[in-house]
Amino acid sequence: MDGNGTVRRNAAAAARPWWKDAVVYQVYPRSFQDADGDGIGDLKGLARRIPYLADLGVDALWVCPVYDSPNDDNGYDVRDYRAILPEFGTMADMDDVLGICRTHGIRVFMDLVANHTSDEHAWFLESRASKDSPKRDWYIWRKGRDGGPPDGLTSHFGGSAWEYDERTGESYFHLFSRRQPDLNWENPEVRAAIRDVMRFWLDRGVSGFRMDAITYLKKDWANAPADGPAAAMCLNKPGLLDFLREMKREALAPYGAATVAEAPGVPAERAMEFIDPDDGVFDLLFTFDHVDLDIAGVPRGQRRPWDLRTFKRGFTDWEKAAGERGWLALYLENHDQVRSVSKFGDDGRYRTESATMLAAWYLLMRGTPFVYQGQELGMANAPFRTIAEYRDVDALNLHREALAAGRSEAEVLRYLAVRGRDHSRTPMQWSGAPNAGFTDGTPWIAANPDCLTVNAEREAADPGSVLSFYKRLIRLRRTHPAFVHGTFEEILADSQALGGYLRTLGPARFAVVCNFTAASQPLPDLPALRGMRRVLGNARSGAPDALGPYETRVLGTAPTTD
Ligand code: GLC
Repeated sequence: MDGNGTVRRNAAAAARPWWKDAVVYQVYPRSFQDADGDGIGDLKGLARRIPYLADLGVDALWVCPVYDSPNDDNGYDVRDYRAILPEFGTMADMDDVLGICRTHGIRVFMDLVANHTSDEHAWFLESRASKDSPKRDWYIWRKGRDGGPPDGLTSHFGGSAWEYDERTGESYFHLFSRRQPDLNWENPEVRAAIRDVMRFWLDRGVSGFRMDAITYLKKDWANAPADGPAAAMCLNKPGLLDFLREMKREALAPYGAATVAEAPGVPAERAMEFIDPDDGVFDLLFTFDHVDLDIAGVPRGQRRPWDLRTFKRGFTDWEKAAGERGWLALYLENHDQVRSVSKFGDDGRYRTESATMLAAWYLLMRGTPFVYQGQELGMANAPFRTIAEYRDVDALNLHREALAAGRSEAEVLRYLAVRGRDHSRTPMQWSGAPNAGFTDGTPWIAANPDCLTVNAEREAADPGSVLSFYKRLIRLRRTHPAFVHGTFEEILADSQALGGYLRTLGPARFAVVCNFTAASQPLPDLPALRGMRRVLGNARSGAPDALGPYETRVLGTAPTTD
């Protein structure tokens, strides 16, 4: 091969990186599979289920934190970035997971928590030991005012964003729980230490990182308000990109590591600053408009009504912003969100229809789809009725605060029933066995009793199941490059009942149309759809000019594969 050929090949690889064609599966290890009967999912359990993931057709995993942690925020409070929490197993178990994934051609994104550590991390213990500690400046310490905290800023998880520390008479800043002190990113030693953590995991064979809370790194103290949510002075502030560029240049680019960033606070019109293939800092972005449409801009613990057009715009505004150069991470669920079939579909009568319709809605868009564990089964929100059933620090804090502020127990429970993060953290439903086949012991959080009918074993044997539909969609995406590399164009944008889009690559043209309601809806006679035939759908029959309840249809110029 001549030199020019090599150059051409490298350029082609850069233009078509592996993650564009990939479907990624998110594992929340604590709730995925318990192998040792202690009621907590673990790495041996995950290893055992990798063939299931390969069969589903996924190319990569995002593994939520398995680092050593006191678990105040289920692992997002890291005590040691280079050790595995014993509940999850050992570093040898982690290497096994990486090795088994490799044999199945599955890559792994580690979850990188860089904004904060646990208050039990050695860095923090050293920092808090004295004002003269060499690591004092690794965290953010301030003197209080008039016997109170330095200011009135509040944390994401409720209460003051400052925790007083008697030893030195100063308070440290925490955007999340009081046991998650924020690192001081202004300190170059901190940035270097986090880069070392990245190299440690890249050397072990991970392909990249999901960057936790990464748009909060830069604190804009000069313009900080005197009170209110602390996020106001640390969400996507000027200077953030400098930190991220350094991270990319020094640690990620040399490894060709892939990155998907949790990016709250980044508006669509600024997307390309982050994901431009040349000047950007990440490969993929998780955006929030479509999932936070019920809580954006309202006080903590409250919700507002939303409509379908807003939901659709949460996807399509970003598709437009990404254009032909940018690339997005597409998702409906994760460990912080409720179950999509419960929120955007109907988890009762039309569970299968609405879960499959939602799958088609996002999985064939332009970007890399992420499937959260159990989403491919149509798992629904948990039927929790008391606060004792919840485990999440955020839910428990909210409950305490709200009652103290005079809100009623029933009101708080109503909010948590549709917003609590624990709904996506109930055990993965493998079978109708006790505890959904997740554990032989007592699960750390109760399994959803609907596991008797909604479970992987049953759905694998049913060609009409949500699981079977996910497999067909993933296969379809893999078969036709138009679903990956084609252009994206929205149709039916103004409809409050239907949604859809076109994907085009050369002569290959496809359309996805979805009915988001429980009523039959006429399908407008759009010129773009004329001459297209049904390629796949979640209803066997149906009038060509109408969509049944929660029906989705993929139409195309390609031969029928269904
Ligand atoms: C991210 C995580 C969430 C965690 C928070 C603090 O939003 O997804 O689970 O609580 O960061 O690390």
